[in-house]
Amino acid sequence: MLSFTGKVYFIFPLHTDSEVSARKKTFTEVQAEGLEQAQKTVLISYPTGISKKNILQYVSRHGKINSHFFYEGHGPHAMVEFSEKESIYSLQDVAQIADCSSVPGIPLKSRLFTLTPRQSLSQALDETSVHNYQHPTIPIEDLVQKLCCADSISNQLYSLLNEYQLTEENIKLRFLACSLIQDIARAYFPECVVKPFGSSVNSFGKLGCDLDMFLDLDEIGKSSTPKKTGPFQVEYHIKRMPSLRTATQRILSVIGDCIANFSPGCTHVQKILDARCPLMRFFHQPTGFQCDLTANNRVALRSSELLYIYGNLDSRVRALVFAIRCWARTHGITSSTSGPWITNFSLTMMILFFLQNRKPPILPTLAELKNLADAEDEHIIGGHDCTFVSNPNKINQTENTETLDVLLNEFFEYFGNFDFSSKSINICEGKEHNKPEPSPLYIQNPFERALNISANVNQNQLDRFVALARECAWLLQQVDQDHGRDSKQPWGLAALLVPLIKISKKKMGTRTLASARIKVLLNSLRANSANKKGERAFS
Ligand code: GTP
Ligand code: MG
Repeated sequence: MLSFTGKVYFIFPLHTDSEVSARKKTFTEVQAEGLEQAQKTVLISYPTGISKKNILQYVSRHGKINSHFFYEGHGPHAMVEFSEKESIYSLQDVAQIADCSSVPGIPLKSRLFTLTPRQSLSQALDETSVHNYQHPTIPIEDLVQKLCCADSISNQLYSLLNEYQLTEENIKLRFLACSLIQDIARAYFPECVVKPFGSSVNSFGKLGCDLDMFLDLDEIGKSSTPKKTGPFQVEYHIKRMPSLRTATQRILSVIGDCIANFSPGCTHVQKILDARCPLMRFFHQPTGFQCDLTANNRVALRSSELLYIYGNLDSRVRALVFAIRCWARTHGITSSTSGPWITNFSLTMMILFFLQNRKPPILPTLAELKNLADAEDEHIIGGHDCTFVSNPNKINQTENTETLDVLLNEFFEYFGNFDFSSKSINICEGKEHNKPEPSPLYIQNPFERALNISANVNQNQLDRFVALARECAWLLQQVDQDHGRDSKQPWGLAALLVPLIKISKKKMGTRTLASARIKVLLNSLRANSANKKGERAFS
């Protein structure tokens, strides 16, 4: 019997503060498993109203189905993972190239299919609704209400994580999108691999986040170990390029043209080849992902692995990162467009640095992770040492037992009072250093250590972050003092996710919390000086 439960499993299981997780998979294992499954997966679009049961029954004629997922993207879709790759060939054998006589098209045999019923639709009407994938996250107003029902700030953070984290199906769909692009790229480079990196796989991805892809050409030739072929060594002729950057730009440009011209469902293709990291941006309509394809970007893959390790060491890490990223987005500290603001990547580094600085530390420094590395963990990329332990099970658990209630408040206190004017942040040693140059915010790139990952941030944006952090620290401290919460008012994390002006008006009756606090300060100064005058009058 086929199952239609539409159950959602999480690749990163939900934890409570006290739970200890079992053996954790390495990043390489997760990648290999995801890519392997994606190769056995097809994507099928079908007209609204067709029964899912009929679709699965039909598709299972071609082989055993391992998993499936129905979603509403650009029309209803079924993602079907077979047990064997051969099942895809069987399906491709019966598939026809669409009729191009009325609308011209380029014939291509891919793993994207359309299923059209031969019989009347009325016989196959589906009663159950399709999982709505286009708007998977709840609106912020609903989230705020939901958080208000939690019984602690800690549980508010776990609740937000539960709402926003990527589901197992969503991650599978991301691997599938990479695999479909890999099929196109393999027309030129038959052994290349397209891998997801960034928040899709680093454990910090929010539903709806972009899909960062890495075209890995280093896999080419890996399988061919030097063979003894008599007295000669045989080498392929290769095209020489003026620089690695030029090679990357040319490869991306050609693959980008293929994607734009031949890949079904890829739209809005943009070549952004002059960026520091050249990329091809496009929208993958069948899966609904905004994609950035890069090449020769191995350091970014390694930093995704590092973040994956940090995210899996302690259940509080992801909960805190999701909450602070959500807070930053709500208040326009981060943005979906590039500009002088703090990026999610920089913000995550700041949170990791903060957690390295708790007493006792919640997270180890990168230097400590390097000390735990063995020979197979050694990675030197472009002259940069990117070595660290890749097995999260080798890293000791922290003895720090602080709750998320405390950590959230302390994060805002810490960065509300951080000496950004003279100090830099670096997760390698987990210590503040003097800034090597005067950028307003200096976060050392963990692998390319002469670089600042937040060089784009201007003073104005940093000041906004600091001012908001101070406001939020103050607001959270009010929760402790507000014995007997007013359940109608957002409190704890929920209070930080509504415009602060609303809260301040309700709570204080003044325009902003800042102005309220300045008023209190001025009044107390006035009172002090009046007292002093009074003291003098009586002396
Ligand atoms: P989202 O905002 O959810 O997409 O987070 P993300 O981590 O995927 O960020 P983004 O898509 O901007 O970048 C993808 C990956 O590229 C990151 O996870 C990092 O590994 C890397 N990256 C991004 N920005 C920088 C940077 O400024 N310096 C370096 N060295 N790597 C970066
Ligand atoms: Mg991303």
